Amino acid sequence: MSTTKYISISSQKGGVGKTTVNILAASAFHFLANQKVAVIDCDYPQHSLEGLRNEDLTLLQENEQRAADFEALGRQAYPVVACEVKDALDIAQQMQGQFDLVFIDTPGTINVPGIIELWKKMDYIFIPVEADKVSISATLTYASVLQQFIIGQPGSRLKQYYAFWNKHNKSEKQDFYARTEAVFATQGIPFLQSRLEQSVNYKKDTMRSTMFPLAKEYMRLGISNLIEEMAHIIFPDSAPSPATEDTASTTNEAL
Ligand SMILES: Nc1ncnc2c1ncn2[C@@H]1O[C@H](COP(=O)(O)OP(=O)(O)OP(=O)(O)O)[C@@H](O)[C@H]1O
Ligand SMILES: [Mg+2]
Repeated sequence: MSTTKYISISSQKGGVGKTTVNILAASAFHFLANQKVAVIDCDYPQHSLEGLRNEDLTLLQENEQRAADFEALGRQAYPVVACEVKDALDIAQQMQGQFDLVFIDTPGTINVPGIIELWKKMDYIFIPVEADKVSISATLTYASVLQQFIIGQPGSRLKQYYAFWNKHNKSEKQDFYARTEAVFATQGIPFLQSRLEQSVNYKKDTMRSTMFPLAKEYMRLGISNLIEEMAHIIFPDSAPSPATEDTASTTNEAL
């Protein structure tokens, strides 16, 4: 097993998609790219990721067809460990060498004991941003915390953080997106090229399943591209390929 990489989709803003994208990424790397993945949910006390895993397990117990579908996958689900932030670093350290990738869902606030040390353990942080002023300003604040207290500090392994658009709406505000990216660039904050489209499909259970790979049709909401872009950042020498193409008119048979 190569060195474990620690990743967090995190932000200091609530409701921007941290948990959703942690699950999408964990599932894509686990099911589609055959990476050994674990998830730590230290967003105490809500533990929404652990809650989703428990719902998935209940569904599996109650629905024979779903249980058979899961069996047919021939792949165990990745572990989801729930804890408080103060205990997450120890748990993450125990996972060193056991997994290729560990995704950590953290609370959307800096006012939690242990969070700075935990962020120092991350190799990469990806920050979902919505196209509104509050989300953008929270991202700028978060990035400055990472820049000031984490990157380059003793014991920190954080190489880089990246912002990316979530709930992107193709039909409006294109100028707003471009202008915001330009402002972020002047602050030294890189933006991923991939954007996750706003979609009602996120209301469906399947979008937040921790036990099944995401269906192909949903990967086309920008998810394939995002995962692929992340893979090239996380594994610059040999990115595993969970996905290849991601256009509205293309079905990706490689998935
Ligand atoms: N691209 C999207 N399009 C539409 N809805 C989305 C999208 N991404 C996330 N959502 C929805 O936004 C809501 C918030 O997402 P999520 O719970 O992942 O955010 P969060 O940042 O983890 O929130 P919290 O701060 O409460 O932990 C959820 O209802 C989710 O389904
Ligand atoms: Mg969350």
